Formats: sequence, structure tokens, C-alpha cells
Amino acid sequence: MKAVLEELESRRAQARLGGGAKRIESQHAKGKLTARERLELLLDEGSFEEYDAYVLHRSHDFGMEQSTIPGDGVVTGWGTINGRPVYVFSQDFTVFGGSLSETHAQKICKIMDMAVRNGAPVIGLNDSGGARIQEGVGSLAGYADVFLRNVMASGVVPQISVIMGPCAGGAVYSPAMTDFIFMVRDSSYMFVTGPDVVKTVTNETVTQEELGGARTHTTKSSVADGAFENDVETLFQIRRLFDFLPLNNREKPPVRPVNDVPDRLDNALDTLIPENPNTPYDMRELVLSLADEGDFFEIQQDFAKNILTGFIRMEGSTVGVVANQPLVLAGCLDIESSRKAARFVRFCDAFNIPILTLVDVPGFLPGVAQEHGGVIKHGAKLLFAFAEATVPKVTVITRKAYGGAYDVMSSKHIRGDVNYAWPTAEIAVMGAKGATEILYRSELGDKDKIAARAKEYEDRFANPFVAAQRGFIDEVINPHSTRRRVARAFAALRTKKLENPWRKHDNLPL
Ligand code: HXC
Repeated sequence: MKAVLEELESRRAQARLGGGAKRIESQHAKGKLTARERLELLLDEGSFEEYDAYVLHRSHDFGMEQSTIPGDGVVTGWGTINGRPVYVFSQDFTVFGGSLSETHAQKICKIMDMAVRNGAPVIGLNDSGGARIQEGVGSLAGYADVFLRNVMASGVVPQISVIMGPCAGGAVYSPAMTDFIFMVRDSSYMFVTGPDVVKTVTNETVTQEELGGARTHTTKSSVADGAFENDVETLFQIRRLFDFLPLNNREKPPVRPVNDVPDRLDNALDTLIPENPNTPYDMRELVLSLADEGDFFEIQQDFAKNILTGFIRMEGSTVGVVANQPLVLAGCLDIESSRKAARFVRFCDAFNIPILTLVDVPGFLPGVAQEHGGVIKHGAKLLFAFAEATVPKVTVITRKAYGGAYDVMSSKHIRGDVNYAWPTAEIAVMGAKGATEILYRSELGDKDKIAARAKEYEDRFANPFVAAQRGFIDEVINPHSTRRRVARAFAALRTKKLENPWRKHDNLPL
């Protein structure tokens, strides 16, 4: 018996060593942790249950039969994050560059199948040279098996991808089909074709970092939802995000004990809106004031900054926030902000997360580039997403809610459950200046007359009461009591039941 136990221990030790001490050293020298070290930081201490540590590839080409390493370049299994289960895979760059073989893919597929059956999220730590070059189509088939599972799991269990090294070629499409992608600054990159191929085909000279580093994907392409300084910080933040998410689409979001009361008043909010309606203010201040303990996990913080998206808690329960940001482009909607917010709203709706919408929007951004870029279709995405969402929806209009953008931003008409406005709200087809310039074009030469007309329009429409008279606004609330009012609204909506008509699936304007 002793010999058998020793054999087990020796096999385990061999598997734990991955590609060997030298390659581990080289991984550390690049400022990267190993696959197992990463899992230790991601999961609760001692909670990781590893599967398939002895799996070997079955390739006999290019001398591969001489070179097998237990685990075949990916560490898989499940563990817990603050006590809640999660299935994980962590690619081991020290083993054949973390490249994906047929068996490597089978390991990932196994834990994805278990995650879906057991209703727990999947977190993938990606660090791979891509398809195992020696395996050819076997590897491509393995990728496709993973892709299919990404699609089948979408909207069933949350899927999070963390890019912690190379991620190139078709390999990028697995993360791209998950709910969130986070990257590590300076040590990770994602692209379909690398700088060499780009140079050959288009004659453009570009570095890996410029083409597909964290900055590119968080500020330009919006492929990634966030980036952090290093492996340790990234994994810590993923744990933080995980705590906001339900385990699957049949569960409510988790409720955490919080050190905050729902009826906390904030008098500073009474002066948040500047006297001049064209002066910007920071909507993030309102979000932080409404959140339990001021805790806001922002999604896509560095992209389309004219809209804020992210998770907060109210009475310990997760709430998704979508908020126009007047500090950037006056908070208007455009192609990028519509896409960003639409995807966020759909995630919340898929996973039963109530949505709080904070509105200060002067309309859609005008311009040839916007129109030619398809703002009609992209703006429709956000309208579509809010309208189809059946989760509890509470809306607060703080200032401007003009034109189509008023309808889009979770208005009563598209099934907003509770719609509040601050006394400073202006709900109208457009601002007074624009309106008078259209209505009284013939008087444009007479400055005084036009000013009087603008004043008349402002007095009539630059308030929340015209909408409140029609019941489109349920109540005009004091800014300082917004947290209490919103928390009570969500509490009342906990038992909300609403279903959309049966269909195979909708046809979101893509
Ligand atoms: C097999 C690979 C590999 C791969 C790396 N290695 N990528 N082995 N298949 N795809 C091995 C290397 O031979 C080396 O082995 C070890 O991993 C570390 O690689 P290095 O090159 O020494 O590391 P580094 O200098 O950091 O460079 C990392 C890299 C580079 C940029 C990722 O390895 C590279 O360019 N690899 C090839 C990338 C690629 O073209 N992949 C295919 C993409 S197409 P030793 O034994 O020396 O340690 C694709 C299609 C997917 O993925 C399609 C899905 C539908």
C-alpha cells in the first residue's frame, strides 16, 4: 500500500511541476505567475479540486510521442470564491506554451459541461500560444468544441475570461463569446493575426501592444471590459466581480451582509446639479452615493465614457447601473455608448440582476460619422435591450431627458417599473434653444424675441411635471433621499413576475 501511495504522490508532484523548474523561472521572469499559482490566488484557500491532472496528449507527429507532460498544458477543476462554487481552467504556458491540443480542449470541455449541469460559473485563465501546431486539425476541432460550449453556456452560467498572456488566432473567439474579458496590463495581448502577418498583408507596422494589448482593447476596440496592473491585482478584482454575480440564470443575485443602511440620506446630492443646465457634473458621484458602502465595480470604465455601466449593491443585493455621464460628450448617446450599455443590460437581464438607470441625456450625438457608422442600428440595440428586459427596472432622471434618448433610457413606456425624476429634470423633445430655433425660425433675427420664446419653452417644458401629470414619472423625489426611494422600489419589485411572449429567439439589431 505504501508503495502505491508513494506512486500517487510522485505522479501528483510531477503534474504540479508542469513544464519544469526552468520554464517556471522564465514565466516568473516575465512577471507572470504559473497556472497553479494563479488558481491559488483566485480561489479560496484549499478549495481547489483538480481533475485530469494525468491527462496526456495522444499526438505521434513531429516527435511529440517523446514529449508528454501530465496535464497537457491546462489545469482544470473547481473551487470556491468566498464560499460559492466556480469551475476553472488555467492554461499552463510552461507546457508546450499552453498550446491547445485535442486532449487539452477535452479537459476544458469537461469542466464547462459540469459547470452547466451544476449551475456554476466558469472562469478561464488564458495564457496560450494557440493551436498546438504539431496536432493540426485535431487542435482546431478542440477549439470548436470549446466554442460550441461557450455558446451553449451563454445566458445559462456567467462566463469570465482573463487574458494573462498571449491569446492569438482563432483562440480569441472563446473569450470573445464569454460575458466578460479582463486583461493584465503589459503581459497579455489578443489579436486574430499578429504584427508579422499584419505587416505582410497590409504593410502596417505595429507592435503587439499597440495591436492587441490591454490599452487597445479597453479604450479602442472594447473587446476587453477592464485591465489591471498585474496577475495578483487582476485575480483579486475577478474575485470582487464574482461576488456580484448569481451562479446561474435560475438564481437571484447573491445577497451579501453590508455595513450600510438603505435609508441613508445624502444632502450633498441636493447641490449636485449645477445652476447652468449646460455645466457638466460627475454622475459617478451619484452612483457612489447610492451604492452600499460606495462599492461600484465598473465595466468598460475606459471605453465610451459618456455612459457608466457596472455593479453596485443595494441592501446587500446586486444591482446593475447604467448612467449617462454628463462629464463626457455632455452624456449624449452615440454608437459606442449604446453598444456598451446594451450588452450590459442584456447581461443583467439574462442573470436576473435588477437595473438602475440614471438619466441625464441631451439626445443622440449628431454627425455624419455617427450616421454613416450606423447610429440608428446601434442606438436601437440599447432601446431593444431595455425594452425586452424583464428584470426590475428603476429609473431616475436627474436633469435632461430629451428626445428619443428619453424613450431609450428605460422610460415608463418600455416597461420601466418605477420612474422617478429629480425636481431639476427637464423632459422634452429637445432643449429650449434648439426648439425655439426650429419653431420660430422667422424671428431668428430678433435676439430679444427669441430669448423670450426660449424662456417660454423652458418654463413650459424644462421640468418633470408635464411627464408626471401623465403618469410617465411616478414621483418627483428629493435628490437627498434617492437611495432610500430606489432601495424601497427594488424591495417592492423583488416579487416581480413578467415574461416576454414565446419565440425561438429575438432578432436584436446586430
Ligand atoms: C506548440 C508551442 C506553441 C504552439 C508556443 N509553443 N506556441 N508549441 N504549439 N502553438 C512552445 C514553444 O515551442 C516553446 O517550447 C514554448 O511553447 C514557449 O514558446 P516561446 O516561443 O519560447 O515563448 P515566447 O518567446 O514567450 O513566445 C510566445 C509566442 C510564440 C508569441 C506565443 O511561442 C508563438 O508565436 N507561438 C506560436 C503562436 C501561433 O502561431 N499559434 C498558432 C496560432 S493559430 P519550448 O519547448 O522551446 O519551451 C491558432 C488557430 C486557432 O491558434 C484556431 C481556432 C479555430
